Amino acid sequence: MSGKFITFEGVDGAGKSTHLHGFVEALRARGVDVVLTREPGGTPLGEQLRELVLHQSMHMDTEAMLMFAARVEHIEQVIKPALARGAWVVSDRFSDASFAYQGGGRGMDIARLEALERWACGDFRPDLTLLFDIPVEVAKARLADAREPDKFEREQAGFFQRVRSAYLDRARQQPQRFAVIDAVQTLEQVRAQVQAVLDRL
Ligand code: TYD
Repeated sequence: MSGKFITFEGVDGAGKSTHLHGFVEALRARGVDVVLTREPGGTPLGEQLRELVLHQSMHMDTEAMLMFAARVEHIEQVIKPALARGAWVVSDRFSDASFAYQGGGRGMDIARLEALERWACGDFRPDLTLLFDIPVEVAKARLADAREPDKFEREQAGFFQRVRSAYLDRARQQPQRFAVIDAVQTLEQVRAQVQAVLDRL
C-alpha cells in the first residue's frame, strides 16, 4: 500500500498556508493518516538549512543547492517512509518552488535546476500540486500586515512576477499534476475550490 504525496505552492502572500491546514483537517476527518510537512525544512537538518537560506545572502547556485540538499533529507527521512506505510504526505512547498523562485525569480538556468532535481529526486514527483495563484500586488498587500519579512519576502515586485509566471508555466506544462486555485477570491470561495479538489481525489 502506498499513500499520496500532495504539495501546496504559490507566491508569498497567496494564502496557501491557511488553506493547507483546512485541507489536512478535512483529510483527517475522512480517516486518512496525514503527515504535514514543509520546505525548506521538514527534518532537523532541513530546518537548519532553512534558517540559512531564508536569512543569509548567498550565490543563487548555493541557494538552489541548499534547497535540494534539504530536499534529499526530506524525501529520504520523512516523505518516502510515510508513503511506504500508507500515509498521505502534504508538503507546504516542494521542487516547484525551486523552479519558481530560483529559476523564475533569480533567473537560474532551468537545465541546471532539472539536473539538481534528477540528482535529488530521481523520478519522484508529487501526485498532486495545488497552486495558489494571485496577482503580485494583491499578495504583497496581504503580506504587508504579516510578520517580519524574510529574505525572499523583501524582494521587489518584479521578482514575484517572475515567480508567478514560472509557477503558471509549470502548471500549463503538467496539467495532470496541477490544480490551479484562484486565490484572489474570498476565503470561503477559495476554501470551496480546495474542497472540490479534495472531493476529486
Ligand atoms: P514560505 O513557504 O512562504 O514559509 P512561511 O509561510 O513560513 O514564510 O517560505 C519559504 C520561502 O522559501 C518562500 O519565500 C519561497 C522560498 N523557497 C525557495 O526559494 N525555493 C524553494 O525550493 C523552496 C522550497 C522555498
